Amino acid sequence: MTLSGKQIVLGVTGSIAAYKAVLLLRELTARGAEVTVVMSANAEHFVGALTFRTLSGRPVLSSLFDPQSEEAVEHVALAERADAFVVAPATANLLAKAAHGIADDFLTTLLLATRCPVLMAPAMDGGMWDHAAVQANVETLRERGVTVLEPEAGALASGLSGRGRLPEVPTLVEAVERALTPQRDLAGERVLVTSGPTREPIDPVRYLSNRSSGKMGHAVASAALRRGAEVVLISGPTTLQPPPGAVYVPVQTAEEMREASLQHLASASVVIKAAAVADYRVERPSATKIKSGGKDEGLTLSLVANPDILKELAQRKGGAFLVGFAAETNDVRKHAADKLRAKGVDLLVVNDVSQQGIGFDAEDNQVLLLDRWGGTLELPRMSKLEVAHAILDRVLALRSTPKTRRAQPSH
Ligand code: PMT
Repeated sequence: MTLSGKQIVLGVTGSIAAYKAVLLLRELTARGAEVTVVMSANAEHFVGALTFRTLSGRPVLSSLFDPQSEEAVEHVALAERADAFVVAPATANLLAKAAHGIADDFLTTLLLATRCPVLMAPAMDGGMWDHAAVQANVETLRERGVTVLEPEAGALASGLSGRGRLPEVPTLVEAVERALTPQRDLAGERVLVTSGPTREPIDPVRYLSNRSSGKMGHAVASAALRRGAEVVLISGPTTLQPPPGAVYVPVQTAEEMREASLQHLASASVVIKAAAVADYRVERPSATKIKSGGKDEGLTLSLVANPDILKELAQRKGGAFLVGFAAETNDVRKHAADKLRAKGVDLLVVNDVSQQGIGFDAEDNQVLLLDRWGGTLELPRMSKLEVAHAILDRVLALRSTPKTRRAQPSH
């Protein structure tokens, strides 16, 4: 029984998918977990508390002021006892409250009081899931270390189809088991990550840059930290907070990124270059703001090539495992294979940035992993954090596989 003796709080909110929480409860208890169900008031419109009470063998909690329940006033004790806190289904309303620290019922109060791993499995209409407010709340929660699962695509209760379905029960159970047994397979590793864009000045107020948000690189840093690595994160300008625990080195230009990367290379055992480095910089940036010469006058900038940091790291990396990224828009496999050879990396993470919903400034990514031993691994679209874990899985697999067998992907 994989969850024997584990104390799990199962939060259920008001969604048609609440029936799946019943099946999840059954699976968790079958694996030995002791589950306490906490329902929002709206959840009771979809599934009766008696069902959860019968299957869990424990009182179901919903009100902070329930005179029948001693646990209700002991929310701090329950929060402290829990090994994992799972909210499935999590509505857009619950995500918003959790992201903003609102505690207006038992479930949301408990979420603020708990210190155990928290996992949320959203379920809602596809249009709601895509809404900027929901996505911003999800991002806030993820930055704070909450695992927010990606909803699945398919038929929705509204009659429409799209992304918004609660993942199936086996997926939920696997995620709970993962949250309860945190991997420490990178303990002792020192991972150097570069992230975000670089900014190349034109004058004191203008610059050349690109659309990188830093989400991919920051996700790699977070994943490595969670798996026990020491992480140095060298990042170009971004609005993201550095993940807690990382040594954070903010930079602006490609030259600064190069300098910082070389400085931290010697102590790194794995280097992952997710940054989108500007290939060119202005040869002589102006010390003062360039004045407009009127609508008929153009401006010619003379550009020079920036150093290829990745190539230089490949030459100087010693025993470190080097991972590069490739952002392609056409003839993806051919350009990627050329880049793998030209850059001299051990593993190349290839994304087709012409695709909608992945790549630059997206929440998800879909990548192809090419390694120098001839192995190819094509991954489905997933959150950037999941892609980050898949890259780290591949690094470990390639490092531990004897050279002669490396060409066969292990997945
Ligand atoms: O930051 P996000 O919004 O989350 O977007 C993620 C991403 C699309 C930026 C990321 O997934 C990605 O593809 N990063 C690499 C972008 C890039 O610059 O690709 P490239 O094919 O131009 O460069 C190939 C590799 O060489 C990269 O590892 C890059 O860091 C490196 N490089 C490039 C130029 C240069 N002068 N020095 C370098 O080290």
